Amino acid sequence: MAGRDFDTVLVIDFGSQYTQLIARRIRERGVYAEILPCTASIDDVRAVEPVALILSGGPASLYDDGAPDASPELLALDVPVLGICYGMQWIARELGGDVRSAEFAEYGRREVEVGDAAGSVLANVPARTITWMSHRDQIAHLPGGFRVIGRSETCPVAALADDTRRFHGLQFHPEVRHTEHGAEIIDSFLFEIARARRGWSMEAFEHEQIRRIRERVGDGHVIGGVSGGVDSTVMSALLNRAIGDRFLAVFVDNGLLRKGEATQVRNTLHGELGVNLVTVDAGDRFLAALAGVTDPEDKRRRIGHTFIEVFDEEAVRQREARFLAQGTLYPDVIESISHRGPSATIKTHHNVGGLPDGMRLELIEPLRELFKDEVRELGRRLALPERVVNRHPFPGPGLAVRILGEVTRERLAVLREADAIFIEELRAAGWYENTSQALAVLLPVKTVGVMGDARTYADVIALRSVDTWDFMTADFSPLPHDLLGRVATRIINQVRGVNRVVYDVSSKPPATVEWE
Ligand code: XMP
Repeated sequence: MAGRDFDTVLVIDFGSQYTQLIARRIRERGVYAEILPCTASIDDVRAVEPVALILSGGPASLYDDGAPDASPELLALDVPVLGICYGMQWIARELGGDVRSAEFAEYGRREVEVGDAAGSVLANVPARTITWMSHRDQIAHLPGGFRVIGRSETCPVAALADDTRRFHGLQFHPEVRHTEHGAEIIDSFLFEIARARRGWSMEAFEHEQIRRIRERVGDGHVIGGVSGGVDSTVMSALLNRAIGDRFLAVFVDNGLLRKGEATQVRNTLHGELGVNLVTVDAGDRFLAALAGVTDPEDKRRRIGHTFIEVFDEEAVRQREARFLAQGTLYPDVIESISHRGPSATIKTHHNVGGLPDGMRLELIEPLRELFKDEVRELGRRLALPERVVNRHPFPGPGLAVRILGEVTRERLAVLREADAIFIEELRAAGWYENTSQALAVLLPVKTVGVMGDARTYADVIALRSVDTWDFMTADFSPLPHDLLGRVATRIINQVRGVNRVVYDVSSKPPATVEWE
């Protein structure tokens, strides 16, 4: 959104796990924030017209081989700069200071003693304050023009400032909630040092996007794939607001959806939101593509290809469409432009990617500036039912990644029933909203059991429920034992062919959410 309508603060990413959080914290204060990788050219940076820069932390040491680096011209833009952790060390080194590996690393909660902080980012922080640190390197010699504004027991330069150039550095993480006065620090930087104007709100965003879509599309037509998930539903509702029936949502029913889901998707999009919708019933094609396949990556590839084929055919039928709308979110965008390059492919996500070959459609991504919870907020503004807004994520390849071994009609039926029981019980117990994602998995083994007087040899269902902020790391949900017991009893009694239910207590990493 390049800061034309409101002030933009640019976050330069050195690879910190908190980079997105920094951008979030800024937006929460009503200022628009955008992220660029540290490898961005200075022209890209200038194009954003930032009123201030924040340089993120990063996992590396400045002295590592291939340590992330950025253009020194960042420090010649004549805008205030706040460096956090690695970002601060990078500034210090660029400006002639010295960064060394310290005798003691600092991880976790550390008290910082605030010094001569008038007019700096620490101006509104008490004399002693708890911060969140994670570093071993530290500044050994200050670069010229800087003064120390905070120190910890083992880190003599925990914060520094150069009032003339409006450069500030923090060895700790103000964006993390564990830092007691993080919000005050970010406020001081934004409003006192950078004098940024507040102007970012979801209402402003909605109006701006609708205006842009109308301007771009003119009297043209747009198609877009929908899955029933919150991103594509919000994208559809927005396009519908902007251009009405000239937006056509294409719902590919891949036959890998959960119980009743296809009907629900249609009811919500068409029935409740009035979106122009076409459903392509492609379950048989997907099942045929998956016949005999057990390798997880192979399954994903086949599902991806089939999806593109089916969607492509439909797009060709919708001759007048000149644009393709996608519900790509900020995290997807960031991941693909990260300085680490497209981060190591752990799993092939088929729904993040470019246009199918041979399709000459222009891409519209109205949500590419947003984080997940911002999309939810926009969804509420666009009158999406709460059921959709709060829906757990569901992977594009659907139940195929939850059926280990071959995907068949029969096994899909077993998993659908088990999954429906799990989700129903979670909702009934009030736990659905308290977990990030819950699912059932059908395992490729049979185990021995006993029913009545007879020995059984039947399927195992694994239940998984996780709590997570960003799905990069996750903990298993501490579901009550009686709830788990109820779910197990119902599944074993009501789903034919299942005689055992287990609960997955692994965290991510090293496990993942899906079992595949
Ligand atoms: P993992 O299993 O990688 O999953 O820990 C993290 C999150 O991503 C979802 N997921 C996908 N979502 N397309 C999607 O839209 C996919 O191919 C895909 N694979 C995994 C998963 O459900 C979890 O929320």
